[in-house]
Amino acid sequence: MSAYEIVFITVTLLIVASIVWSTLKVGISPMPSSAKAREVIIQLTVNTGTGPIVDLGSGWGSLIIPLAKKYPQRKIVGYEISLTPWLITKLLKTIFSLNNLELYRKDFLQEELSSAEVLICYLYPEGMKTLANKLTLEKNTTRVLISNYFSLPSQQPEKTIQLDDFYKSPIYLYHLNSERE
Ligand SMILES: C[S@@+](CC[C@H](N)C(=O)[O-])C[C@H]1O[C@@H](n2cnc3c(N)ncnc32)[C@H](O)[C@@H]1O
Repeated sequence: MSAYEIVFITVTLLIVASIVWSTLKVGISPMPSSAKAREVIIQLTVNTGTGPIVDLGSGWGSLIIPLAKKYPQRKIVGYEISLTPWLITKLLKTIFSLNNLELYRKDFLQEELSSAEVLICYLYPEGMKTLANKLTLEKNTTRVLISNYFSLPSQQPEKTIQLDDFYKSPIYLYHLNSERE
């Protein structure tokens, strides 16, 4: 085996190990939203004001990159704990010169989210419970939450859109707080 092959295999194994580690830590892999889900989510952000849009777990950037391109005057924020997806998104941000995009390799549960106007997530049932608790405790002023596939445990969505896919996947739209209306 050549030195190049050894380096390639080692780097590949490190990347896989880091993705597995972060998946075990947060309970979900960096699987991107489907193209159909992405289209609906982006459409739901239209007419949501001009405040920051925050992706809670931005994965490989498949949502925040198009969002940052769509809204060049709006702050788009991505929190992502997994190193490789976060690095790839950083690279895409640089390639496309997206100065309105802020990327943090942080656990969003430890961050203050109240300045966000729109929150987007694609988590899992337990993650939605934790998020709901955090938003309640923070008395969050966020107006809109868009969730791919998983609903909040104890709140009725304002709108549910069922995708035309095999699973009839739902996209939920919540209005969390109307004080700013
Ligand atoms: C299913 S992916 C969704 C990616 C992207 N939002 C999309 O819809 O294409 C969920 C991502 O959330 C990240 N994640 C989950 N919990 C997190 C947390 N507490 N802090 C930061 N990232 C988190 C995971 O690492 C994963 O990359």
